[in-house]
Amino acid sequence: MPEIAELDPDDDPGLREFFDVEQAAFRADHPHAVLRTFPQLLQMVRRPSSYSRRTLLVARDAGRIVGTADLALTVEDNLHLAHVQVGVHPDARRRGVGLALHDELVRRARSAGRTTLLGEVNQPVEGDPSPAFRFATALGYAVVQEEDHHVLSLPVEGARFEASPGVPEGYEIVTWRDRAPDDLVEAYAAMHTQMGRDAPSGEVDHQPVEITVDRVREGEQRTAEAYDQVVAVARRRSDGVFGGYTLVYLARDADYVIQDDTLVMPEHRGHGLGMALKVAMLRILAAEHPERRLVHTWNAVENTFMQRINRELGFTPVERELEMQRRDADA
Ligand SMILES: CC(C)(COP(=O)(O)OP(=O)(O)OC[C@H]1O[C@@H](n2cnc3c(N)ncnc32)[C@H](O)[C@@H]1OP(=O)(O)O)[C@@H](O)C(=O)NCCC(=O)NCCS
Repeated sequence: MPEIAELDPDDDPGLREFFDVEQAAFRADHPHAVLRTFPQLLQMVRRPSSYSRRTLLVARDAGRIVGTADLALTVEDNLHLAHVQVGVHPDARRRGVGLALHDELVRRARSAGRTTLLGEVNQPVEGDPSPAFRFATALGYAVVQEEDHHVLSLPVEGARFEASPGVPEGYEIVTWRDRAPDDLVEAYAAMHTQMGRDAPSGEVDHQPVEITVDRVREGEQRTAEAYDQVVAVARRRSDGVFGGYTLVYLARDADYVIQDDTLVMPEHRGHGLGMALKVAMLRILAAEHPERRLVHTWNAVENTFMQRINRELGFTPVERELEMQRRDADA
């Protein structure tokens, strides 16, 4: 049976081997996965954020890493939660490696007082359930949230832009890169807080968190180590109030774009701002990042508003991402 151990964040070759095995495990049956990059992994374990801490575990067989696990614990909010992830190299599956790693994650989560475990698994759009889904189900996890993973090939045909309505009357689009201007950052933080409250999250046992300016600034700084960021905001001309935003990450040395949050604030809904923001962002990508070939985005299956916008823009679903949860009481 493989030996389970914590990986020392200062172990350079160990981290590289961890990364390679994690990539092999997730790519094997998850062809569209957007995975963390090596610089990101280094940052997570060597310079953790102020808001969460992370432990990496490995399963070694005859000295070689065959499985990886990741435990992420928030330190200020949601102290009942543990985020878990397990990956086993395709050559080492169905021998109990995943189970042994998971047992150790559970032991550590419990000793940190956590009572709910949360993990993400992929599921093909059609066909048999993924190994990850079968594994999580066998371990007593239940699906609490479903998202479609959509992709859009770039460049987008010009005709699609011409057909889309422009910026709604009374609004203008303001954009920035990497760091929100000081005079706008408070209003920007408030939109992130709203995003945490409004984005559909199914039965996930997570309490929304207030996103302070400090959190925004730390996030911007940490993200800038691995990604360029572009933000587009809809601002009401009459009073300068923000009506919504959209945010993308551009991984360095890669040809894809991660389209993250898109939010329209409650009192600004119904004017077409969601579509206007996304079109504005696609225009920026076409003009300033013509080397990018694909946009990835994720939408809750019940978020009909965002699903419709994405379909109209030409996004197509490539897989489902399932949030799976197990409470100690259910174990
Ligand atoms: C999910 C994963 C970690 C399982 O690793 P593993 O070492 O093969 O899992 P185990 O051998 O410990 O399996 C434990 C139990 O899970 C279930 N299971 C795991 N893989 C399964 C599969 N392909 N089909 C059916 N059941 C499966 C079985 O009940 C199994 O017990 P059994 O072999 O006695 O029947 C591995 O398939 C993987 O790395 N997938 C890609 C990474 C990923 O998506 N991880 C997300 C999980 S957070």
